[in-house]
Amino acid sequence: MTPQSIPAGATTGPQQVDIDLADRSYPILIGTGLLDANTSYAGLPRAATALIVTNTTVAPLYAQRLQAALAGRYERVHTVELPDGESFKTWETLNRIFDELLSHACDRKTVLFALGGGVVGDMTGFAASSYMRGVPFVQVPTTLLAQVDSSVGGKTAINHPLGKNMIGAFYQPLRVICDLDTLKTLPARELSAGLAEVIKYGPIADMAFFEWIESHLDELLMQESHAMAYAVRRSCEIKAWVVGQDERESGLRAILNFGHTFGHAIEAGLGYGQWLHGEAVGCGLVMAARLSEALGLVDAAFVERLTSLVRRAGLPVVAPVLDAADNSNRYLSLMRVDKKAEAGEIKFVLIDGPGLATVRSAPDALVAKVIDASCIPA
Ligand code: NAD
Ligand code: GLY
Repeated sequence: MTPQSIPAGATTGPQQVDIDLADRSYPILIGTGLLDANTSYAGLPRAATALIVTNTTVAPLYAQRLQAALAGRYERVHTVELPDGESFKTWETLNRIFDELLSHACDRKTVLFALGGGVVGDMTGFAASSYMRGVPFVQVPTTLLAQVDSSVGGKTAINHPLGKNMIGAFYQPLRVICDLDTLKTLPARELSAGLAEVIKYGPIADMAFFEWIESHLDELLMQESHAMAYAVRRSCEIKAWVVGQDERESGLRAILNFGHTFGHAIEAGLGYGQWLHGEAVGCGLVMAARLSEALGLVDAAFVERLTSLVRRAGLPVVAPVLDAADNSNRYLSLMRVDKKAEAGEIKFVLIDGPGLATVRSAPDALVAKVIDASCIPA
């Protein structure tokens, strides 16, 4: 059982979850008003320059406020606005960050600030990992998905047309600053996408949290502040607990990919950006639960319970057809490029009883059956 700090609903005040990684340890700050608060940035290394990396949607909403908050700490604060969307998580866009760093003669002490969702966060982290062989960076996530998952744990990457997040590095931020107020401008579809990553933590690690989500889902969809604060904090606690034990995914960390093997196939197969990452993961959770049932690990009631929660969160539970002529083989070939695959054998994160994940392979024929069943409305 993962450790828990404060009971659900106890506070919306500032909270901190620590991620324990020896000399790469850092705090995740969670609360309201954090973007403008000096205390959020206290203790960060001093440097002549800082670069805010954001995108064309988030910049008009929050870049000026971050710029103002950083002005007292850095002599020059530059901002680069990337094009918005998963389809821009590419080498070309990454290069825009390097162009900016070099054109402003940014040195090794320059601190990068990722202001945005997971796409901006993953690309900024990758840029930070490689610019001058590594410069410090801070995550300022502004989507639910980024606050509960992508900004925490140091996975950074860009996509390749043949596979999702295939090129990247493990590189930890100095700090994660989750200002819950920024979620207020999030479109409903993006909020639902973030809920997919919140829901995933239940079946893999904490069924009490899963039950809590079931009973507080309406509040989360309405962004009730106590509920949001708890969902972000509990998700970060579970993620910090997992990453603290297995930073580079030699074992345990793979459980965080529950739903992602199917989900990544959906994203790559449809073309990046057609379905949101969280939508593909939501549907992937249902598919992975069905595969767990097909292998005799969980019962049909568990699959129905998870499916119902994913559906209530506003996420798709019917998988898309990726190839009208040979659908299950298209899924299988995309999943063979998954990072967990070994020698072409696909590894799935499955549920071995509620609250307990396992990583296993499964016969292709059984996986194909699950895919076929998942592409048809129940
Ligand atoms: P995203 O970054 O594309 O953001 C979603 C949309 O919301 C974008 O249009 C963005 O501009 C907009 N947006 C962001 N903040 C906003 C705000 N406060 N108000 C209004 N609009 C706002 O998508 P995402 O769901 O945040 O992240 C998905 C990405 O994260 C994927 O690329 C996925 O692979 C990655 N990811 C990484 C990890 C990891 O561990 N590194 C984990 C999970 C997901
Ligand atoms: N989102 C999966 C991981 O961080 O490992």
